[in-house]
Amino acid sequence: MALDHWRGRRLLKALRADALATLPGRAGGMWGEIVERTQRLLQGREAQVRQSEARLQEFLIALETSPNGVVLLDENARIEWCNQTAAQHFGFDAQRDLLQYIGNLVRDPAFAAYLASWNYSRDVVLSMAKPGVAPLKLSVQVHPYAGSRRLLLSRDVTAVEQAEAMRRDFVANVSHEIRTPLTVLAGFVETLQTLPLEADERSRYLAMMAQQAQRMQTLVNDLLTLSRLEGSPLPGAGDWVPVPALLGQAEQEARSLSALLAPGRQHELVVGAAPGWELSGSHSELLSAMSNLLSNAVRYTPPGGRIEVSWQALPNGRAEFSVRDSGPGIAAEHVPRLTERFYRVDRSRSRETGGTGLGLAITKHVVQRHGAELRIESALGAGSTFSIQFPASRVRAPVRSADGAPAQPATAEP
Ligand SMILES: Nc1ncnc2c1ncn2[C@@H]1O[C@H](COP(=O)(O)OP(=O)(O)OP(=O)(O)O)[C@@H](O)[C@H]1O
Ligand SMILES: [Mg+2]
Repeated sequence: MALDHWRGRRLLKALRADALATLPGRAGGMWGEIVERTQRLLQGREAQVRQSEARLQEFLIALETSPNGVVLLDENARIEWCNQTAAQHFGFDAQRDLLQYIGNLVRDPAFAAYLASWNYSRDVVLSMAKPGVAPLKLSVQVHPYAGSRRLLLSRDVTAVEQAEAMRRDFVANVSHEIRTPLTVLAGFVETLQTLPLEADERSRYLAMMAQQAQRMQTLVNDLLTLSRLEGSPLPGAGDWVPVPALLGQAEQEARSLSALLAPGRQHELVVGAAPGWELSGSHSELLSAMSNLLSNAVRYTPPGGRIEVSWQALPNGRAEFSVRDSGPGIAAEHVPRLTERFYRVDRSRSRETGGTGLGLAITKHVVQRHGAELRIESALGAGSTFSIQFPASRVRAPVRSADGAPAQPATAEP
């Protein structure tokens, strides 16, 4: 009995100290059996706990890799866990903010109302503005689970919202641009129908109608050009276009535009040479990009102003086409937006020359399709310089002769 008692006490002590493993397994007798069975039972439980711990970690890692933000909220809307994406979206600190009430951290009233509503059939879109960071649009949706716990998912919809806003603007702009000439046209038609007009008055009205029709045609053509550029494959790198031919064509167009816009006081147009240089890409696209820049310079520079077109080699085999004018220049706040569709600095000024604000959007598209870069330097009162920098892969320099002078193009050789 004494031995029995002693063994029993030893077991109790080991259990209290949570040191069952230190007991010799083969204590003998009934107590030995009890120790062994308890040990086995506990080891089994421990293995189970470790297993579920590992499973939990796996789940959390899986949630961590989710491209969406995931936040687990307890019954009191306190953060139990969140992944890195959610931390970035909301600016949480994944460690420090644990067990914080989420309403204290996300202060948007729309979110507070949404969270309190317990009606989560739709998402709510929040704007997250942090100093120094571009504003973020988040789509947040809550899903209740296990009674009153909640799973919160957040998705970055900045790009989607932007595209949507652009689409709305685009449709509004197109309708507006078409409605204006259409209204004018309809007005003239009505006049012609109702009023008996003299022959010269009649022809004056018809000329104005033709002008408006032309305007609509240009607009539709530009829109088609844009959508063609978007939908078509990139221009092949194997087609080489001679730069002098491009410059020559663009120059010719600019001269006739100048003669049209400023008869008697034409612009002073200086076009640099680029003998032997070639560009790879689409002839028509490159020409339209270059002559868009040149026609802008002619349009927005007052009569008699100076316009310089140049072609020059840049370091690392790149090359640059640039158009510099002595026009009114563009204020800094407009410069980044010039390539947006329908963007015009001064609508009225552009109106009188008939621009729709698509020229630079087309140019930028073409430039990007050729792996090049469009640069705009301008300041109010100091003229503007628009340049296209082509990558080395799309530029072929003239073969130089022994004395370092560029070789003449093959056709010019005796
Ligand atoms: N060289 C320039 N000098 C001053 N302003 C310019 C110059 N080039 C462009 N801009 C401004 O940028 C705006 C956008 O030019 P863009 O070529 O895209 O459109 P647009 O010339 O108005 O119309 P479009 O080219 O479609 O006929 C112009 O409306 C004009 O205000
Ligand atoms: Mg233009």
